[in-house]
Amino acid sequence: MHVAQVTEFGGPDVLVTAEVPDPQAGPGQVVVEVAAIDTIFVETQVRAGWGTGFFPVRPPYVPGGGIAGTVGATGAGVDEWLGRRVAASIGFTGGYAERAVATAESLAPVPDEVSFTDAAALIHDGVTAHALLDRTAIKPGERVLITGASGGMGTLLVQLATAAGAYVVGTARGVLKTALVRELGADVVVDAAVPGWVERAREALGGAGADVVLDGVGGDLGLAAFALAADGGRFSGHGAPTGGFAAVDPGEARRRGVRLLGIADVQLSAAAHSNLAARALAAAASGILCPVIGATFPLVRASEAHAAIESRELLGKVVLTV
Ligand SMILES: NC(=O)c1ccc[n+]([C@@H]2O[C@H](COP(=O)([O-])OP(=O)(O)OC[C@H]3O[C@@H](n4cnc5c(N)ncnc54)[C@H](OP(=O)(O)O)[C@@H]3O)[C@@H](O)[C@H]2O)c1
Repeated sequence: MHVAQVTEFGGPDVLVTAEVPDPQAGPGQVVVEVAAIDTIFVETQVRAGWGTGFFPVRPPYVPGGGIAGTVGATGAGVDEWLGRRVAASIGFTGGYAERAVATAESLAPVPDEVSFTDAAALIHDGVTAHALLDRTAIKPGERVLITGASGGMGTLLVQLATAAGAYVVGTARGVLKTALVRELGADVVVDAAVPGWVERAREALGGAGADVVLDGVGGDLGLAAFALAADGGRFSGHGAPTGGFAAVDPGEARRRGVRLLGIADVQLSAAAHSNLAARALAAAASGILCPVIGATFPLVRASEAHAAIESRELLGKVVLTV
């Protein structure tokens, strides 16, 4: 079968098509005939050599941890999955492939109303977005600031926070992205590329600031977003596309009574992951959640997909198709 393989750490060109033996399902496992593959920003960072302390991957490796497709073969004990439409999180590698092995525990059935492309788009972002909404327990009427609101997960967070009855302020960059976030239901969108965005966001949030900040960007922008959290509020710094998580001073957070959440709070067991995936897929089937897919690329053009993600020109996210 064909896979896209990272041959060495580097730019998008290090991601090339390779031929490898078909995977076999062991006991409790299935082989998925992959139709669509999730991509997430951090995969481009790891491919470039970032975060090797946290992500134990070394070239050559096949990236990709989120797949959707049809179960083509089953190992012992899980025959009931044969032929079913599924999505799965399979870890951090092995997903950019025509076939991939998944444990039965990690499978979420994909409703007929949901395309494989949408299912792949939701298998990580939809799960993490639901986990973040649960962890921060957003209530109707609360003021919520979402940074990186035009990204793969940001666009879902805007929809979910709006559906939860929150007053949502989003940050995005440029005319197209800010318009998208507004269309998705945000009450106010602030262009974070325009100087003075922090003051405009403060004004939009009014009063004491944001009850909840969902920061998917990190770096200086994330730190500025922390300053916009109301005393006694909640701040989730789960994103680092800038190269680092928001370096919030825990002492200051304590003094201000801001509860800090981070990437560790959205690390989920396989069972919790597949439960949240089922919720995200059900929300998509009923039209509550609509993933924004800026572009799809065939698997053999995975390097172009990575270049597109890094260009930051696309809306929402990029999905690979087989
Ligand atoms: N997806 C998941 O399941 C999951 C789980 C845990 C953590 N996270 C983290 O959450 C964050 C957001 O995920 P995502 O999937 O929504 O990512 P994404 O689609 O790539 O979105 C990232 C957003 O960050 C903004 N951004 C600001 N400065 C940036 C910079 N220097 N480089 C790149 N982007 C920048 C981009 O908006 P502009 O281009 O408009 O500025 C973009 O909207 C990532 O750090 C990811 O690792 C995701």
